[in-house]
Amino acid sequence: MRVMKKYNKFDVLIIGSGVAGLSLALRLDTRLKVALLSKTRLSEGSSLYAQGGIAAVLDQEDSFESHIQDTLNAGAGLCSDEVVRHVVEHGPAAIHWLIEQKVPFSFIDDDHPESGYHLTREGGHSHRRVIHAADATGYAVENTLEQQVKARDNIQLFENHIAIDLITGDKLGLQQDRCYGAYVLDRDHNHTEVFEAPAVVLSSGGASKVYLYTSNPDTSTGDGIAMAWRAGCRVANMEFNQFHPTCLYHPRAKSFLVTEALRGEGARLLLPDGSRFMQQFDERGELAPRDIVARAIDHEMKRLGADYVYLDISHKSVEFIKHHFPTIYAKCLEFDYDISQEPIPVVPAAHYTCGGVITDLSGKTDLQGLYATGETAFTGLHGANRMASNSLLECLVFSAAAADDINRTSSTTTPHPTLPAWDESRVTDSDEEVVVSHNWDELRRFMWDYVGIVRTNKRLQRAKRRVDLLLHEIDEYYGNFRITSDLIELRNLAMVADLIIRSAQARHESRGLHYTLDYPDTDVVGTPQNTVLKPAQRASSRR
Ligand code: FAD
Ligand code: SIN
Repeated sequence: MRVMKKYNKFDVLIIGSGVAGLSLALRLDTRLKVALLSKTRLSEGSSLYAQGGIAAVLDQEDSFESHIQDTLNAGAGLCSDEVVRHVVEHGPAAIHWLIEQKVPFSFIDDDHPESGYHLTREGGHSHRRVIHAADATGYAVENTLEQQVKARDNIQLFENHIAIDLITGDKLGLQQDRCYGAYVLDRDHNHTEVFEAPAVVLSSGGASKVYLYTSNPDTSTGDGIAMAWRAGCRVANMEFNQFHPTCLYHPRAKSFLVTEALRGEGARLLLPDGSRFMQQFDERGELAPRDIVARAIDHEMKRLGADYVYLDISHKSVEFIKHHFPTIYAKCLEFDYDISQEPIPVVPAAHYTCGGVITDLSGKTDLQGLYATGETAFTGLHGANRMASNSLLECLVFSAAAADDINRTSSTTTPHPTLPAWDESRVTDSDEEVVVSHNWDELRRFMWDYVGIVRTNKRLQRAKRRVDLLLHEIDEYYGNFRITSDLIELRNLAMVADLIIRSAQARHESRGLHYTLDYPDTDVVGTPQNTVLKPAQRASSRR
């Protein structure tokens, strides 16, 4: 049953309740009336599952220059020097802010806080600089920020509310193109509402669900990237999707991530015969940047026809393992693997979207009134490959900057047209839900097979032909049937898949996370360029 449409008016609309969205909400002036949306329950999103920690220069022996250099090295020539410096230099303040919010980070000796915070290591980092809460950092940060947000009177939370599209001046046929708000489906009551706000923030996470195997939760369907693209914003570097090297291989484990911090603390990668192999690919061995480790594993699996390789930390003491990695230890036991006694089978899986909606240092996009922060955004920090644990740091630094900008510029007197209600007069209930489920599976399967860790021109062409067909079918379906959250996500995933394929086709070299057998070398002539896609024309609104 459909119920009456609602019109909501706020000063700021934040789409997403991960670390990017929550930290932004908390940084806004309490005079501002804020709506915070989550398309499922509040805590669900990649942030909740982050394990390793957050990178920042916190040790006397470490330096900004070292963190900057490591980030630039991992990014394979495509990081923005200015952005990397900005983020690294704001890192310690971001961590102190989290400590003020009461995030329970691990101490060197948990019984003696005066021992100082424990810092771990991950791939690409030349120092111990990753602050963490055992191996469940995301859980600790997300839950702490959630409690703080719930205590704020100016922030209203909307769970099970999924944003469909942005409402822009262009779509309304107005002279001034800016973002005025969004159409949002209330999934509990099955009706579409208008959210009007002079400042709208996309903090809706990444798009790794576009691949069949992913470490990400179901929320990572690229909604923010697709909405911004349809609203006329540029996106960049979508070919650089990161594959995490070590997810547990087990039919029931749903690509459960086994943190890189395990390797940081000495875990080794092994072939089925028990021999180590990473040293043959990179002198940093198991602690080489992720693109190199994931590709090496993929290469060895294909060479040997193996379904997985092994990760082994059983040479460490049981006490050490249980203390540092309690979540992974317990999770693996559920699948009958005791990591303190035996190696475990691991495979790479899609993990992180390095590309996204182009923003400036304040998180502002091309469209006035629209910001993007967190994994949805392309800030220039990660280049062709994100270094481990730089992502949560980016969420915190850019959300703080966007909040500052909104605090400074927001005016509750900005004149707004009254926004039209969502129009469902020309659609009916679907009688063919199978179209959605079939296309969903097909898309994720061909993205995995043709646009994965190793690409070729032919595979990309095949993928492009298929995605064109899917886009057409989905568009037709969208035009005729009533909206559902599955349809919203499928439409966005197909759009993001298209952006990934087009970006991959445009890069005629291998660099960082983009590796193609047709251009196996990295271009050394001229300055490396980002892949920037511009919407050819503003998408016209169906409703
Ligand atoms: P998310 O945390 O993914 O949150 C997205 C939010 O947007 C959710 O609330 C979702 O409901 C909402 N949303 C999405 N679409 C819509 C819509 N249409 N309408 C309404 N709401 C919507 N990074 C590190 O730096 N360190 C780590 O140790 C680390 N470990 C990781 C481990 C795992 C298993 C994973 C998956 C990632 C890890 N990462 C890590 C990456 C990091 O966790 C993410 O990049 C980061 O948490 C992204 O935060 P976010 O706030 O941008 O998005
Ligand atoms: C991990 O803990 O291995 C994930 C870290 C990250 O993605 O930054």
